Amino acid sequence: MAADVSVTLALTGASGAPYAVRLLRALNEADVPVGLVISRTGWRLLAEELAITGEPELRAASGPWKRVVLYGDDDRGATPASGSAPSRGMVVCPCSMGTLASIAQGTTRSLIERAADVALKERRRLILVPRETPYSAIHLENMLRLAHAGATILPASPGFYHRPERIEDLIDFVVGRILQHLGIELAVGPRWKAGEITPGSD
Ligand SMILES: Cc1cc2nc3c(=O)[nH]c(=O)nc-3n(C[C@H](O)[C@H](O)[C@H](O)COP(=O)(O)O)c2cc1C
Repeated sequence: MAADVSVTLALTGASGAPYAVRLLRALNEADVPVGLVISRTGWRLLAEELAITGEPELRAASGPWKRVVLYGDDDRGATPASGSAPSRGMVVCPCSMGTLASIAQGTTRSLIERAADVALKERRRLILVPRETPYSAIHLENMLRLAHAGATILPASPGFYHRPERIEDLIDFVVGRILQHLGIELAVGPRWKAGEITPGSD
């Protein structure tokens, strides 16, 4: 895939904003173009979990924005809403049960929902990073429905086999798996290699 093809990154109102900010920083560092969409509650989680209250703080936390375009979640005419716009795929991280349910039903009432719907219909990668505990039968049924439709359900469930010492190690575990599923090779998080664990470089 051409290096210039962008990833759509959506941040919704589930706990786990640090995963999204780390992912955005990694994509920035790798020079991957990003179409960024943040739901209203996503902004609230950025404020509550990271004291990020606006675009300037988000820019500062996720590295200099080289190729990031921030879209409003109510802008259903934006580029990620179009199936004809080339895309490497979409990540919803973190993904609330509300957004997950809407995508499962194809409601497309926001740019995030529409872009996810487009990813499914165009048979592109759609990686959903849910965070809720416990899951209800409705949550589980929605996840199964989405998996059948082609989405990857990649829960924010870091492992402990790499003996994490810092919160950042747990974040990198999840972000590393997202990057792998996007097909972007970066040294983020641990990797198994011939039975040994190779730690990420940062
Ligand atoms: C501080 C806070 C934490 C929340 N954590 C979660 C969560 O971990 N998982 C979840 O599914 N919803 C969580 N919610 C509820 C969602 O934010 C809520 O359902 C919202 O309507 C989702 O909207 P969105 O998907 O458009 O962002 C949380 C809400 C708040 C205010």
